[in-house]
Amino acid sequence: ALPARVRIHEVGARDGLQNENALVPVEVKAEFIARLAAAGLRTVEATSFVHPKWVPQLADAEELFPRVTGLREQYPGLRLPVLVPNERGLDRALARGADEVAVFASATETFARRNLNRTVAESLEMFRPVVSGALAAGATVRGYLSMCFGDPWEGPVPPAQVVEAGLRLLELGCAELSLGDTIGVATAGQVSALLGAFDRAGVPVQRIAVHFHDTYGQALANTLTALRHGVTVVDSSAGGLGGCPFAKSATGNLATEDLVWMLHGLGIETGVDLAGLAATSTWMAGQLGRPSPSRAVQALAGP
Ligand code: HMG
Ligand code: MG
Repeated sequence: ALPARVRIHEVGARDGLQNENALVPVEVKAEFIARLAAAGLRTVEATSFVHPKWVPQLADAEELFPRVTGLREQYPGLRLPVLVPNERGLDRALARGADEVAVFASATETFARRNLNRTVAESLEMFRPVVSGALAAGATVRGYLSMCFGDPWEGPVPPAQVVEAGLRLLELGCAELSLGDTIGVATAGQVSALLGAFDRAGVPVQRIAVHFHDTYGQALANTLTALRHGVTVVDSSAGGLGGCPFAKSATGNLATEDLVWMLHGLGIETGVDLAGLAATSTWMAGQLGRPSPSRAVQALAGP
């Protein structure tokens, strides 16, 4: 059976923009986030408090975040999570009013090294005080796990290896675990196999979210597979923006419009105003100077 409602975790302003070379002005980012909230999205990942040299596009996190926190009063229930890799990042985020953070681990050693300059074990140790510090400050913590299906350097990733790293993130205190297909290579059978492996490891499906990139056009099929396994939290990016600068061949995330089209077609509630969202992505595409890759955005924009 499919769920009656899905919570969309919108990552356009973070995963979407982090890969853009041309710096997007902070006013444009703030307007993007405001428009996403106005379109009905209630989880809008805003930015990352990472090292500014590692992700120059998000070096304005200090300036951006206070510009959007007021949206939480305007839209009751609006959540504005931010990424934090370490205690420095957590301190910066809390100082600017964040009440929801995410740490991000890797299922593979190569990507842990390239993304966090650490081994998998070292990065999990780096997250330990971040998660406990965030919880002590009353914040909610999500754990991302990257390279859950395939890694550009290591190839296919065994489900047991993914489950092991995922369990570690949950043990640290992450409320939710987002399983990332960072480079968009997964197919539906792999999604079934991995969710089955987490189920057998005793992880309630309510704690699992899925995070698909759409490199091979499989993100919607993978999402539907996850929904059939009971997943009700899906990450996506308005207009299909996205990619990870540290993962060779990572392209855009599943487009939120494509996702909403499918979910509404299935009678699944999202709270999202699809026309308003597509207009936002068309506006953002204009800001970035190239059309949205989302099929739904193109179709909704008309000829
Ligand atoms: P490092 O170079 O090992 O850092 O980077 P360090 O701990 O050795 O510290 C070096 C200096 O950086 C120190 O300054 C720190 O204070 C400073 P110094 O004392 O030398 O003057 N520093 C910081 N400054 C500001 N903010 C910070 C911070 N941390 C240290 N937070 C580090 C380690 C983790 C910082 C670095 O590797 C990093 O920032 N990585 C972020 C990479 C990233 O953002 N990747 C994209 C997000 S993940 C993703 O997209 C995947 C996802 O979408 C899911 C999927 O698709 O799979 C989530
Ligand atoms: Mg991603």
